[in-house]
Amino acid sequence: MAQYNSYILVCGGTGCRASQSELILQNLKEAVERHKLQDIVQVIRTGCFGFCEKGPIVKMVPDNTFYVQVKPTDAEDIVREHLVKGRKVERLLYVNPETNEQVPDSKHINFYKKQLRIALRNCGFINPENIDEYIARDGYVALGRALTEMTPESVIKEIMDSGLRGRGGGGFPTGLKWQITRKVKAPQKYVVCNADEGDPGAFMDRSILEGDPHSIVEAMAINGYCTGATKGLVYIRAEYPLAVERLKIAIRQAKEYGLLGENIFGTDFSFDIEIRYGAGAFVCGEETALIHSMEGLRGEATVKPPFPSEQGYKGCPTNVNNVETYANVPVILLKGAEWFSSIGTEKSKGTKVFALAGKVNNVGLIEVPMGTTLREVIFGIGGGIKDGKKFKAVQTGGPSGGCLTEKHLDLPIDYDNLLAQQLFPEARTSGQTVRRADFQAKPADEQVRDIRKNILPDFICRHAPPPLSIPAWAAFSPVPRPAGVAPGSASAGT
Ligand SMILES: Cc1cc2nc3c(=O)[nH]c(=O)nc-3n(C[C@H](O)[C@H](O)[C@H](O)COP(=O)(O)O)c2cc1C
Ligand code: FES
Repeated sequence: MAQYNSYILVCGGTGCRASQSELILQNLKEAVERHKLQDIVQVIRTGCFGFCEKGPIVKMVPDNTFYVQVKPTDAEDIVREHLVKGRKVERLLYVNPETNEQVPDSKHINFYKKQLRIALRNCGFINPENIDEYIARDGYVALGRALTEMTPESVIKEIMDSGLRGRGGGGFPTGLKWQITRKVKAPQKYVVCNADEGDPGAFMDRSILEGDPHSIVEAMAINGYCTGATKGLVYIRAEYPLAVERLKIAIRQAKEYGLLGENIFGTDFSFDIEIRYGAGAFVCGEETALIHSMEGLRGEATVKPPFPSEQGYKGCPTNVNNVETYANVPVILLKGAEWFSSIGTEKSKGTKVFALAGKVNNVGLIEVPMGTTLREVIFGIGGGIKDGKKFKAVQTGGPSGGCLTEKHLDLPIDYDNLLAQQLFPEARTSGQTVRRADFQAKPADEQVRDIRKNILPDFICRHAPPPLSIPAWAAFSPVPRPAGVAPGSASAGT
């Protein structure tokens, strides 16, 4: 196996790819070869680094030099100056806007200093298309330990004790959901990963799947072991082609390594994962609508109970969890429930990933401990509002989320506080969108009216049956499951 001294990590997330990061990668590889460094320097395509605002990003390891807004033509300079001559390419370093000084490495960039990356632990560090890199960072150790050293009950207890709650919005205790699914007796059960992510501006789940797909594969298998399911399904919107591609590669590699399939780790546990595609209807992120969509029915929500854990896909008990929820699972088993529950607030443990979008300076993907204030997120990490404008409001959690205004800036973000502030009945905590400038000039309550008027209908009427004039909230009211609806019609909504 080759021994490398240095690594050049190139962001291969969707944002940076849109700014030619693939060409940068190619040019860096060619420059490395031109300088005959290929035996000691490896160029690696990673997932999103989080700091998308400054993309495309190239990071040098081991010294963590962080080059921003790199162009394909910078490749030669990076290799010649940094690697051959041993001096940083200063014009590509990040400049702290407060001090106007260049920052030598990622560890000293404010955007990162205030974050704690658990779900995003591997994003921007490993090549998501190489299972060996995931394994080198303790990948699949949690699955091995669960299967060979723990009972399903003890794994569930660990997840329960950790305090992990569903990151898809409802905040339901994850361990409890697994226990409920486990207790239902049925010959066939399913594990579902909800990767629909319909909220505007949200890209947490996509980035995790693009940057660390094996963590989801591993967590779903652990879930299968606990609940008694042998089949896993990832429901992902077809407009996430890169995430789909990397997930396919991860599933294929896991099968090749015997980490999916029959008798995993030599035990009698067998588990497999398939992908199901959504057509991009917001409501299909709701778990009952998602299940109907996978069944080929119209993607609309139905009354609970029965909950999917009792009666879900094809009438079988189905454990549905969100991508980010799963991303926390392997690391909880590795580091322990006590470690995880020491992070966050009394009732909301661990961290939360947020996609910062809109009129904030540092657009990107961040992960902070639960309980971090909105001020810290918007100003400390997000760098404040663009062009020094006044903060007006933050919309959290997409169309079914709510708007938080200036008076909420010092509110610690956790499930309970956000639920208490919600403007709509189904609380979601999955994204944060700093309102656009065209909302800034208006009073906050007017912004909320605008959101109801302009955004909600777009997300609802696209998939609602005619007439399109139904009130916005009606689409969120669960309706009894329609009997005898012909399968195959607009399976994921249209
Ligand atoms: C209208 C609506 C849309 C939703 N969209 C999503 C989504 O895109 N992704 C998601 O994980 N959960 C979504 N949910 C929540 C799911 O119904 C479900 O609670 C969640 O996937 C369970 O996973 P968790 O316990 O890990 O959060 C949505 C809920 C509603 C009411
Ligand atoms: S896509 Fe490159 S930093 Fe996010």
